[in-house]
Formats: sequence, structure tokens, C-alpha cells
Amino acid sequence: MTETDRRQILDSHRPPALFPGEPQLGGWYTEAEIEATVDAIRGSMDYRVGFGFIVDEILEFERAFADYCGTKYAVSVSTASVGLDMAVRTIDLQPGDEVIVPAINFKASALAIIGAGGVPIFCEIDPRTFCADPDDVANRITPRTRAILPVHMNGLSAAMDDLVEVARAHSPPHGPIRVIGDAARACGGGYKGGKIGKVGWANVFSFHTMKLMSTLGEGGMITTDDAELATQLRGMRQWGGESEGWGSSYKLTKVQAAVGTVQLQRLDEMLALRAKRAKERIALLEGLPHHEMPYEPQDCTHTYYLFTLLAPPHWAGAKRDRMIEILRDDYLVGCMVGNPPVWEGHPLLNQAADGQIGNLPVTADIGKRLFCVGLHPQMTEEDNAYIAAAIWEATSHVERE
Ligand SMILES: Cc1ncc(COP(=O)(O)O)c(C=O)c1O
Repeated sequence: MTETDRRQILDSHRPPALFPGEPQLGGWYTEAEIEATVDAIRGSMDYRVGFGFIVDEILEFERAFADYCGTKYAVSVSTASVGLDMAVRTIDLQPGDEVIVPAINFKASALAIIGAGGVPIFCEIDPRTFCADPDDVANRITPRTRAILPVHMNGLSAAMDDLVEVARAHSPPHGPIRVIGDAARACGGGYKGGKIGKVGWANVFSFHTMKLMSTLGEGGMITTDDAELATQLRGMRQWGGESEGWGSSYKLTKVQAAVGTVQLQRLDEMLALRAKRAKERIALLEGLPHHEMPYEPQDCTHTYYLFTLLAPPHWAGAKRDRMIEILRDDYLVGCMVGNPPVWEGHPLLNQAADGQIGNLPVTADIGKRLFCVGLHPQMTEEDNAYIAAAIWEATSHVERE
């Protein structure tokens, strides 16, 4: 993108309002979702029918989701956070048991470990993928390690085969180290010819409004090939169910499931458009000094839930923050830091990280360098060109200061 092109597009295409750093509706709805909603409501008006519990719409959505991911089972739940809580709870952690989780992370998975009575052991990420570094995970395993919770960060698969192998190689004879993927941001992403959700003991997806597909604001799904785990999870979401163990009520509703089935049918189309915009933007930023572009390993298909850039080491902190400020204030291009070290701003997690923070140099560095520039499949080619031009201009602005 030449300087003249940049100036021209910045002058002619200024947006009326801020492009959000993390759009509020990750996918989008069509008449088909609206019809599915109305049908599910109409079909529930008879006082003998109502909305029910685990009804056909829910079973249909679960079957379709399992087929999509290539797993034997998919268990729907009310949110991904609940799904993570439930999956960790099935491990039956004892006091002092440890679970390894990336430090560059959203707080849900680390909180799930604490909620289930475990000790989160924070690990480094690979600075190119922002996902758990398998070698670092291996170094942090102790005789107390019971599970690894990698995150498919910002829409890209974690190195699942490597992590599963690390878990297998270190598992004690009395019980395997479980690998549970947090796929909240990665619905529909690809890994080694299959879909995210297939590799690992379980994977947990989010259908929150900001996510790649959504079920009317909230929702989640857990995929697994383990029949026993699936039964246990189904019990947990409905007061014990067939498993007759502990349970509560963590169900998705019939209306959400009906919408989820439609969203799933449209997921690949929504992701294709998102990837198209991401790739166009990467091409427009070719030659941009300083920042590293989102990385897509050959064996993965990135969903680009977030368009994550990495500022250079000497921009860590103040200059990265200045870049974000200029993009927002001068160009109306929103960014978010996805994510800083998970304990920042959370006292409970800060307490859990006590004694570990100094032993995470990659996290300290990358947490001050990464930032995500808003991306949405419904952005137009012109919107995208404007955002790319703004990134060019903000970069040269920070460079000059
Ligand atoms: C990485 C990650 N994990 C878990 C969650 C929690 O998802 P939910 O809102 O469905 O509970 C989120 C949502 O923001 C997330 O980004």
C-alpha cells in the first residue's frame, strides 16, 4: 500500500463510529435463525409441551456439532465457562493437584482450575501462535500434574498432538494426565486435516455473542470421544442425570439449540469470509515495518477470531499502547489486548500466580507486545483497506515520536 493510496483511503472512507476491537456479534444472523427462533417458541406454546429439558432440538444440535468436529459426542451447556468448570471437575482434583494452563489467556480456564480445587501452573506460549508451548509444558509437569488446559488462542489450534504426547509420556500409572482444550474462540478452526475439537480428551466451545457462531447471547459445547466422560457431563448439566453423581442445571435452551443448528450450517461460510478479510489485510500490510502478522501454521486453518499483531520488542509496553491509542483516537480503529497475563487485574488469579510470575519471561514480554485489531466478516473490502491504512499511518506515527 503506497503512501498516496493510504492518504486517499483515510480521507475518503473515515468511519462514522469506532470499529470495535472485539465486535459484539462474532458471526451474524439471517432470516433462517429468526425463523428457527420463532418456530421453537411457537412449538412450545402448548402447556403440555413447553420448552422441555433435553429436547429433540438440543439432541439434533449436539449430533450435528459432534459430526462437524468428527467426535463421538458433543454435550451442550449454558456457557463455555460452565463447560470448563464441568470438564475440570470430572478429574476430581485433590488438594495440591496441579493443572497446567497458559499465562497469556482469558481468565475462564484458570478460574475453572481454582474452582475445582486445583492449583493452576502457568506456562509459556509460543510467541508465533500465542498457544501453549509444549516444551515449556513438559518442563512444568510434576508428580502432582493431573491435566493440561491449552487454549486455541484467538482462533488458531494449539499444538494438540504434541501436548497429548507430553501428557501421555508423563502420565503416572494410576491415571492419565488429561488434555482439555479451551476452544471458546476457535469454533470451526482446522487442525491437521480435521477440526478443532477432535484432538484431546475434551474441547470446550463458546457460543457467546462475540464468538464465531452464537446461540442468542450465551451457549457452549463440550466435544469428546470418551463415552464415560460424555455420560458424566450430561449428568452434571442436569442434577446428576444417569451418572447419578453431582449435578446442577447448566443446560442450553431449546430456542438456543434451534439457532445453533442454523449457525453451524452457516459456520464455514462465515469463517470463509472472515479468513478472506484477514488475508486481504495481511496482504495490505505486506512490508509494514516492525509488526509481525498473524501466523497460520501449514497444518492449521486459522479462524482469525482475533487479528493479532505483535509489536517489536523495543515497543513493548508504552509504544504498543501508544499505537493502540492512535488507532482509536485518530482513526476510530478499536483494538484489544488479547490477552495480557491472566492474573492482571484479578486478585484471585494474582494470588494463584504468586511465586510463578518471575519464571515466565516469554509471557512478560509478549503480554506487552501483542494487540488485536478489530476484524469482522461483515466488514467491507473498503473498511478493511481503511483499517490497514490506519495501521500503516499509526506505525509511522509511533516510529517518528
Ligand atoms: C478463551 C476463552 N475461554 C473461555 C471463554 C468463556 O466463554 P463463555 O463466555 O461462553 O463462558 C471465553 C469468552 O470470552 C474465552 O475467550
